[in-house]
Amino acid sequence: MASPMTTNTSLRLSDTGNLLLVLIDGVPGQQYPGGEVMQEMPGFVDVLSNQELVDLANFMRTEWGGQPSSVTLEQVEKFTQEGER
Ligand code: HEM
Repeated sequence: MASPMTTNTSLRLSDTGNLLLVLIDGVPGQQYPGGEVMQEMPGFVDVLSNQELVDLANFMRTEWGGQPSSVTLEQVEKFTQEGER
């Protein structure tokens, strides 16, 4: 199960923290009562550079979230530094 980007909540928030955390760390898998399972989402911290994370987050926010492209390199660097998340 995955959420469609057009109704994605993290993209619609003016605060960029949730979106960055999802892109950097991913989302753990879940099991719900009744046997429904949500697969995990892999994080991209090892695959994308900080600048690529900035560009991806801003693209998603403007394309699907109706938000300004306000994510900065400084902000992403803070999130990707170990222990500062
Ligand atoms: C370019 C690749 C991807 C991007 C940019 C991306 C982005 C996102 C974002 C922003 C969310 C947050 C949803 C929210 O705020 O409601 C999310 C959730 C999620 N993603 Fe991804 N994702 C990617 C690839 C993947 C892949 C490859 C998988 C699985 C193999 C995956 C599985 C999930 C799951 C299970 C959730 C949680 C949905 C929920 O909580 O309802 N994603 N993704």
